[in-house]
Amino acid sequence: MKPITTKVSPTGEISIGGISTKTLAETYGTPLYVIDYATLEANANAYLKPLQTLYPNSLVTYASKACLVKGLIAPLAALGMGFDVVSAGEIITAIKGGADTNKMVFHGNNKSKEELELAITHNIRIIIDNETEIKLLSAASTKLNKKARVLVRIKPEIEAHTHEYIKTGHIDSKFGIDKNHILEAIRTLNNDSNIDFLGIHSHIGSQIFDIEPFVDLAKIMVGHMKRIKDELGIEIKELNLGGGIGIQYTTADNAPKIALVLEAMIKSLKESLTEHHLNEPLLMVEPGRSTIATAGVTLYEIGTVKTTPGLNYVFIDGGMADNPRFIMYKSLYTFELANRANEPATKPYTIAGKFCESGDKIGENVMLPDTNEGDHLIVYGTGAYNYAMASNYNRFCKPAMIMVKDGAVIELLKRETIEDLLKNDV
Ligand code: LLP
Repeated sequence: MKPITTKVSPTGEISIGGISTKTLAETYGTPLYVIDYATLEANANAYLKPLQTLYPNSLVTYASKACLVKGLIAPLAALGMGFDVVSAGEIITAIKGGADTNKMVFHGNNKSKEELELAITHNIRIIIDNETEIKLLSAASTKLNKKARVLVRIKPEIEAHTHEYIKTGHIDSKFGIDKNHILEAIRTLNNDSNIDFLGIHSHIGSQIFDIEPFVDLAKIMVGHMKRIKDELGIEIKELNLGGGIGIQYTTADNAPKIALVLEAMIKSLKESLTEHHLNEPLLMVEPGRSTIATAGVTLYEIGTVKTTPGLNYVFIDGGMADNPRFIMYKSLYTFELANRANEPATKPYTIAGKFCESGDKIGENVMLPDTNEGDHLIVYGTGAYNYAMASNYNRFCKPAMIMVKDGAVIELLKRETIEDLLKNDV
């Protein structure tokens, strides 16, 4: 839940990556997104290291939708990660950040012609979502006279136990091709001389704590491989099992160990492959949240502390625009006063933002010491889907983002300015 370098000084000051949060807040302002390199590295290695022995013919692509700025690419790529991208914006950011396009996969349920052409030009694997896209893709590769490298996204029809909005594998999901149309889609792709059909993909959801859905997914996907081989004579060279492993936001979350999920999933995969006499494909996984969520924290400065008859409010200098996950999913987080972490948390607070909406909160019943104006609040586990989903609601500027590593700061994102907001106004 907390970055692995989190420490509390004798005076109660929290530091991350060897730097006190007070120094970070004073130097870079608040709200501030902070990414701890050591935790990011440990999370990436939690995938990369076990796979080196369990299944060396594998590729881990970081689901960059979780959090993407240019400066995150090189450190992740240096560890061995590829990148899963879902838009022209993510493609270009990853390329400019130095990603190896041969280790990139491009997703989306309604890709544009331009996006498909961009992916083909850079030789990026494209995960086809639907039949219309097959036509667009064929036209794009003909126009560019360049082969497109393609996988097909299949609905696995697994219901993973997670928040309704972040379930993607179930039967009515907007993502993927349903099982009755897979063979036809693959036949079309395989018959197209402009297309290099490589394999199949599936993703069952996000923030999943159970191991069984991943075990079942491997089995179901090998079942598809077998059907494709038997009925079309096509051998699947690449199998992408998506992302979705959950993380611990609060002590109530029972997040699985990544190595245990991988072990169980790969055991299931290998057993099913053996049972059906199929060769081992390249295995891809695309973790987002579990790579970056726990590496990230957000620092806020507390303004007013307001007591109403029912509630004690702490007002922070950010809120739903930099962390929309509470208003969207009622997501829970772990909070502390970054400058008084050694004091007992005795009072329940509602943490409210400064946006014009009553639902603008990022926590309820949050236990903190008696809180004052000027205290700093640290929110743990905000590395994933916070900056990525941030908005400019009420025309507030997006926060800055920095990475801390061995007592040094690497700036990742400048604080947005009002001039930035006005840039495109006509
Ligand atoms: N692959 C695909 C095709 C995906 O759709 C996703 C996430 C991932 C990989 C990465 O999943 P992860 O490892 O991060 O669970 N905004 C929501 C999460 C939406 C997830 C969307 N897809 C949230 O804030 O919880």
